[in-house]
Amino acid sequence: MEQDPPPVDREILAHYADYDEQSRLSTGRSSSLEFVRSQELILRHIPPAPARVLDVGGGPGVYSLWLAGLGYETHLIDPVQKHVLQAMDASRNQPGNPIASNSIGDARSLSQDDESIDAVLLMGPMYHLTERSDRITALQEAHRVLRPGGPIFVSTVCRFAPLMDGLTTGHIDDPYFVDILRGDLKNGQHRNPRSVPDYFTTAFMHTPDELKTEVNDGGFDLIEMAAIQGPGWLANDFASRWANPERRTLLLELVRAVEHEPAMMGVSQHLMAIGRKPE
Ligand SMILES: C[S@@+](CC[C@H](N)C(=O)[O-])C[C@H]1O[C@@H](n2cnc3c(N)ncnc32)[C@H](O)[C@@H]1O
Repeated sequence: MEQDPPPVDREILAHYADYDEQSRLSTGRSSSLEFVRSQELILRHIPPAPARVLDVGGGPGVYSLWLAGLGYETHLIDPVQKHVLQAMDASRNQPGNPIASNSIGDARSLSQDDESIDAVLLMGPMYHLTERSDRITALQEAHRVLRPGGPIFVSTVCRFAPLMDGLTTGHIDDPYFVDILRGDLKNGQHRNPRSVPDYFTTAFMHTPDELKTEVNDGGFDLIEMAAIQGPGWLANDFASRWANPERRTLLLELVRAVEHEPAMMGVSQHLMAIGRKPE
């Protein structure tokens, strides 16, 4: 008999209860770069609309809404009730192209039928599932619901992102942050027991090789591995650069120039592995 997965960690649920995930991609320091680059990586491999997309850990629905607007049938699941309600609200404000369904769920136990989905987004759960066995279960569940040949888009936080974040923001002057950072650098296990809002929550941070291996072990052929922001998020004048169309274009060109460069992978804040379920 199948068992329900263990509940999502309390710290993660408490973090998102307080944190405004809905505006993260439009207001964060370099989040606009994350959003634009994730969109372009998805568009490289997603089958044409109208295809059925499952957004696992879709949060308040930013990617689901975008894809629904492009004519996709998007279904969102997330364990945080606030996020699911936000996605439903936002979907109501996009009446011509709503999200097809929004429900509470866990990446480790999907309710969708076998081979019923054309593409899966797994952009969040892989860094909140801190046990490798849980991450492999999430990938295997995505594999089960995907039709043969369907792509999966898996994004994770890079192992070295907190180090570069700490250096550029000055958080490394805070001994508590440095304690968190030591854990990140040792084994990727990120813990913030005092729940300091700027220091994120319980997570696992991947090296590029760990991500590739996990995607393969979940049953997928790896078709692309890309640095989402590359070094672009480290530009010290990011906001003004992004606001200027010509300077933004150059930034994106330079980020794309090293997106597959193994020696540069580790400087990116997020990584995306794109896998395909074998035919
Ligand atoms: C940083 S947000 C990312 C949201 C969105 N996918 C994006 O890329 O903007 C991470 C999301 O993963 C969700 N999450 C955490 N644990 C999960 C799990 N076990 N199954 C599914 N989603 C989970 C969180 O609730 C949160 O909405």
